[in-house]
Amino acid sequence: MNLLRRKPATESPSSLRRVLSLVDLTAMGVAAVIGAGIFSTIGEAAAMAGPSVVVVFVIAAFVAGLSALSYAEMASSVPLAGSAYTYAYVVFGEVVAWLVGWMLVLEYAIGNIAVALSWSGYFQALLHSWGLGLPPYLVTDPVTLWQQAQAYLTTRDPALASAYQAWQAAPRIASIPLVLNLPALLIVAAVTALAYVGIQESRAANNFMVALKIGAVLLVIGIGAFFVDPTRWQAFMPHGFSGMMRGVGAVFFAYIGFDALSTTAEEARNPRRDLPLAMILSLVLCTLLYVALALVLTGLAPYQELAVTDPLAYVFTRLPLSESLRKLLIGVIAVSAVVAMTSVLLVFQLGQPRIWYTMSRDGLLPPALAKVHPRFRTPHLATLLTGVVVALPLFFSSLHVVVDLTSMGTLMAFAIVSLGVAYLHHAPPPGYNPRFRVPKVPGRWLFLGLTLSGIGWAATLDPEGFRSLFDFSRGGSLWRYRVFLALVMGMGYFIVRYNLSLLPMLGALSALYLIIELDTENWLRLGIWTAVGLALYFGYGYWHSKLRAGQVRNADSGERQEENAPSS
Ligand code: ALA
Repeated sequence: MNLLRRKPATESPSSLRRVLSLVDLTAMGVAAVIGAGIFSTIGEAAAMAGPSVVVVFVIAAFVAGLSALSYAEMASSVPLAGSAYTYAYVVFGEVVAWLVGWMLVLEYAIGNIAVALSWSGYFQALLHSWGLGLPPYLVTDPVTLWQQAQAYLTTRDPALASAYQAWQAAPRIASIPLVLNLPALLIVAAVTALAYVGIQESRAANNFMVALKIGAVLLVIGIGAFFVDPTRWQAFMPHGFSGMMRGVGAVFFAYIGFDALSTTAEEARNPRRDLPLAMILSLVLCTLLYVALALVLTGLAPYQELAVTDPLAYVFTRLPLSESLRKLLIGVIAVSAVVAMTSVLLVFQLGQPRIWYTMSRDGLLPPALAKVHPRFRTPHLATLLTGVVVALPLFFSSLHVVVDLTSMGTLMAFAIVSLGVAYLHHAPPPGYNPRFRVPKVPGRWLFLGLTLSGIGWAATLDPEGFRSLFDFSRGGSLWRYRVFLALVMGMGYFIVRYNLSLLPMLGALSALYLIIELDTENWLRLGIWTAVGLALYFGYGYWHSKLRAGQVRNADSGERQEENAPSS
């Protein structure tokens, strides 16, 4: 099977609708990127890194940018809706592609659980600021509330008393307490409905939300810039280099999402030209906004004070403004945060069904998921399934677990796509003709130089820490760095031996580094997730695959083409 031979898709009554321009696609990238990450984790990262959080954003952008280049190259050569799943198929074949598709469920569906939970938190804060509120049993999940109520009964910890009272107060239906995160469920239902009825409607809503959230960030930057005190930047790296690097993991979530627009490849007017451009443009735009925002926030308040859930609103409480203006600005920021997260939800809720749509068209998932609604021209059944998959776990998920799993799935996909591009540079298959190429820098000597300087630098900067890496009687977090060192050596062998393309290889290594920085229990969760994925593949996809059977269905014309037919 050769996906590179698929003819560019033409629109037909049974296909998705080609309506997205370069501006729409760039707006989708921005929509997916600017969300919970910037509206809350910037404060946490600033507390770790101090004013050097500016550098943290540049480093995280560099890591995301390396992967963005690889995504851009793949998107310009295989303009199909499956994103990293399709790209992995081109290079590594079906099993790896299936696993990447399975990882993307972590990025999109599980990611949306995280965004829906954060959305609910912000929405409640907004209601409180207007003097309104929902009963506590309607803003949490039943599992958490039940656990807290039980803990109260055994410990009588006063901090848990309100949870116990909420559990008691919950109305009962057939003696089952009605406890649910109502705002999170409602927003998931609303966004699913929008994604169901059409890409045009989604585009219009999305563009509006993006304009509003960029406006809010510019407002903070614009007003804040007048009050910045540059002396606050003097202690630039208060917790040293390691404090700064810890911030990178915290802000990476803020960059996730630019890749989501590749799932709309079959709805883009000119995917080969516009997708790569839109990915890079949206990432550059967001990086500029993030860096400016980081500079302003750390210039407005002592960095230690920024570790609050709403740092953008918090800084206004410190400025010498009139009370009414302050209230107005804080209100605008709160509304914008809610809108920003809604647009992240929307883009992810559009992305997941399109990946399932592609996988189903290839035979790896049941055919119903590839059905296109006759009127709305959306993959409606896959969209509904996404709604259910996001909504059900809202009854038992914890935010921390789902955020880490999202980062893990995304970074895995980034690493595999980057490795794929390095391979394609090394051994391009017939028909590989991307419109955009990652600059091909031969890796051998540069990689050796970079690795040796990195080792020399680490050994000089922190000799004790460096020695402890090789003292195998010491365990703990040292194992992570040992694993990473082993990866550098293993991948380095191939880079040096085959003089592989440096940029995609650095993209893969940096994504793997960030995975290693995540808590180790996530590895166990990822292992279980992978095992379930493989069981599903060998239980269903392996037996129903159309691509292995040698048939290529053109992207959305519905026409079939035999594998060996001449490409057009
Ligand atoms: N980057 C997206 C956010 O920060 C996922 O919400």
